[in-house]
Amino acid sequence: MLDTSSNRPALPPEIARRRTFAIISHPDAGKTTLTEKFLLYGGAIQMAGQVRAKGEARRTRSDFMKMEQDRGISVSASAMSFDFKTFRFNLVDTPGHSDFSEDTYRTLTAVDAAVMVIDGAKGVESQTQKLFEVCRLRDLPILTFCNKMDRESRDTFEIIDEIQENLAIDVTPASWPIGMGRDFLGCYDMLNDRLELMDRADRNKVAESINIQGLDDPLLDQHIPAALLEKLREEVEMARELLPALDPQAVLEGHMTPIWFGSAINSFGVKELMDGIGTYGPEPQPQSAEPRQIGPDEDKVAGFVFKVQANMDPKHRDRVAFIRLASGHFKRGMKLTHVRSKKPMAISNPVLFLAADRELAEEAWAGDIIGIPNHGQLRIGDTLTEGEALRVTGIPSFAPELLQGVRAGDPMKAKHLEKALMQFAEEGAAKVFKPNIGSGFIVGVVGALQFEVLASRIELEYGLPVRFEASQFTSARWVAGEKADVEKFVNVNKQHIAYDHDGDVVYLTRMQWDIDRVVRDHPELKLTATKEMM
Ligand code: G4P
Repeated sequence: MLDTSSNRPALPPEIARRRTFAIISHPDAGKTTLTEKFLLYGGAIQMAGQVRAKGEARRTRSDFMKMEQDRGISVSASAMSFDFKTFRFNLVDTPGHSDFSEDTYRTLTAVDAAVMVIDGAKGVESQTQKLFEVCRLRDLPILTFCNKMDRESRDTFEIIDEIQENLAIDVTPASWPIGMGRDFLGCYDMLNDRLELMDRADRNKVAESINIQGLDDPLLDQHIPAALLEKLREEVEMARELLPALDPQAVLEGHMTPIWFGSAINSFGVKELMDGIGTYGPEPQPQSAEPRQIGPDEDKVAGFVFKVQANMDPKHRDRVAFIRLASGHFKRGMKLTHVRSKKPMAISNPVLFLAADRELAEEAWAGDIIGIPNHGQLRIGDTLTEGEALRVTGIPSFAPELLQGVRAGDPMKAKHLEKALMQFAEEGAAKVFKPNIGSGFIVGVVGALQFEVLASRIELEYGLPVRFEASQFTSARWVAGEKADVEKFVNVNKQHIAYDHDGDVVYLTRMQWDIDRVVRDHPELKLTATKEMM
């Protein structure tokens, strides 16, 4: 293995061993299966097959059952921690539904790297491409896993070319597949000169690995049929000539991605990928904040909320705020300052998400994700510190581009609907506006499919069939300014005014012309398409 130590700042060992990442992929590429195998190798589950929570619907259901058992808080598989060799992995789940939502962006602000899973037969698919672009905005290091090599897949060079061209990133093979489909034998480990052979008989068994001395080692002949071996030698030689060699620094800077080939379902190639995440993946990185950046090595604890999950239990208004620790050594019971309200908060029952179970977190370090149950004080974008007035930046909020009215199928259930909508607004899954005049709500989203996702979640989680319908408005702008000015404006524009879930004033219209007019006529007010997440 290459020595990558010189690329690292000196961090306390507990922090240096942490790798916090997300998996990005197109649906069906194998994210769930790979997650399962990570946990299997991480010793977090005994047998693969225990965390099949595929699809938002199934996941929500299983959570709901679990929740009933322990007055639970719906944690689904939002964040999972497990140990692998000397490393502590924190895997943060990107939302499962296929629509591209703000949630996904925000999740990616909480990780230091991403594992990109692609299907060997399909290459770079649309969702992968979009998620990759988000990672690129932050120069996140990306490690690639090309899955399903046990099926007929594309030519290895073709896959690599496609990634290089579509994603404009250098690709370096960390392993090279031997055969494909039914003839897939395993991989040649390009980094360690090893032969990894797949055992098709036992999907949960660690693959056999054979140390060899280069591609001329006679041991190879014992394990690989002559025709395949010849092809392997040719291809590896070509790859070494044509493709860039692994440059750990370029990987950390997000300019190069190493690619491993394997088959998640056969547990093949997964361990090598995990080794790769440990060796080439970044340690906890500095966090951008105002007025200054937060370093992971700082003694004092700081963290920020990147996700809020509301409890579905109607009897409790609890929710869990997911905090990414940006610095320090957190201990249970600590008093932290909630910077937005300037109030102290005693964090007495934080939870760590150790694979399937959640446990009280006695301690956590920079890089870790902890869950803090609370009654709604903690919102997406909030910063917690040991007193310093720092505000983490870069948590995006998006202008809702599509507005629709929503109604409960049963008019008697309007209150229930309000509650459901408020929950989703707090989770950041949609913007919800209550018009000043009339009843009902207007929901704003970024992608059309989000309406469908919302409708099915409201039905599933609240037993409430709802209808989305065209709204008379097409744009929303938050109105800020001196209190008296805003009130005056509200009074003369009653038909255009609504309130968001925080009670802040929003101007709704269907004409850009209206917005331009307000901007021109009211220099004392500020109209914004997004609201700062704070
Ligand atoms: P996702 O979370 O990215 O959506 O994918 P998931 O892991 O659920 O995998 C999608 C399908 O691909 C599953 O099949 C899964 O078994 C299969 N799969 C995953 N890894 C491999 C692999 O290495 N080789 C092959 N041949 N198949 C793989 P399914 O039929 O949709 O689900 P199931 O019936 O297996 O649960």
